[in-house]
Amino acid sequence: MQLPPFKLERYFARYEFNVRYVLCASDCESFCIQDILDFEPEASELFHQHWLGYTESQGSPSLQREICNLYDHIQPEQVLVHTGAEEAIFLFMHAVLDVADHIIVHWPCYQSLFEVARSIGSQVTLWKAREETGWSLDLDELQQHIRPNTKAVIVNTPHNPTGHLMPPEMFQEIARICRDKGVILFSDEVYRESEYRREDRLPAACDLAQNAVSLGVMSKTYGLAGLRIGWIATPNADVYGRMAALKDYTTICNSAPGEFLAELALRHREKLAARNLAIITSNLAMLDQFFARHADRFAWQRPKAGAIAFPQLIDEDVHDFCKDLVEKAGVLLLPGSLYDDPGNHFRIGFGRRNFPDGLVRLEEFLGR
Ligand SMILES: Cc1ncc(COP(=O)(O)O)c(C=O)c1O
Repeated sequence: MQLPPFKLERYFARYEFNVRYVLCASDCESFCIQDILDFEPEASELFHQHWLGYTESQGSPSLQREICNLYDHIQPEQVLVHTGAEEAIFLFMHAVLDVADHIIVHWPCYQSLFEVARSIGSQVTLWKAREETGWSLDLDELQQHIRPNTKAVIVNTPHNPTGHLMPPEMFQEIARICRDKGVILFSDEVYRESEYRREDRLPAACDLAQNAVSLGVMSKTYGLAGLRIGWIATPNADVYGRMAALKDYTTICNSAPGEFLAELALRHREKLAARNLAIITSNLAMLDQFFARHADRFAWQRPKAGAIAFPQLIDEDVHDFCKDLVEKAGVLLLPGSLYDDPGNHFRIGFGRRNFPDGLVRLEEFLGR
């Protein structure tokens, strides 16, 4: 297994904790432990008494039950809790793929969604979202990409980095095609519940098809990345069993305090999501005005969910622009080159409270 550096994560490792304004974060504003404990009167006492031994490898049963509330048909034993969504991606790829296999990956995307498969030696076809069509995917292309040895189709909606939300008919159709072809659908749904309009929310893939795996996490919509709690939900017992067996070689079980707080937070997830959606909505309105003022310098596609978008920089190299911006103004944007994007885009994130101040700094920098 040869894994190249994870470009985006290396970039964050370099800048995230030493710049003034992180204007490209994909997660929402976080909370402190006390905020979460305050949701229930006895929570603080229970947290202090919480046992710090090993926990159940599949996730604590009460957390598994709580996660089921995000889905319509999933049972607790179909939920496998992980250390973040990232561990689940790594284990899924290793659980189902071999050198002889092929996978199709929605692109551009979070690097591990294709890179882990490549490192195993599997063939990877990138299924490209097109900016001209609002970053949507083409179902005919999916049909053409499928080969006899295709093992899985990987999609991500709401989408990192574009904020695109798939139309429900397309999502259903992908699930149907995967079912008909006997291919696993791995659906990265880590930005679910951050749709700007509730009626746009898609069903979870694991509720649509037997051979689907839904990926969820505390990090994004709920702003609790520091808990490092993610999960997969799937009716596919074979995939579940393989991933559970591999987990013994990575983390064995999850952090006990992380599981306690994740379960408590999930019981109140509507409040967490609503607070963060209010931040997103207010920041997004500012961004609309910003891009209207600078239409000569940026091409703006408004996202439909989540805290990130992927605008294009016109007439200037995006890598140089981002480098100059962070060095001279202390504002961090993420050049699209970190996604191997050739289109001069950059990722902007607007889920944080200090976003308005960072945007002012960015605008000052433009007028330099
Ligand atoms: C699409 C997508 N999947 C998975 C992850 C990993 O999530 P976590 O950092 O919570 O493990 C991320 C993080 O940015 C992501 O954007």
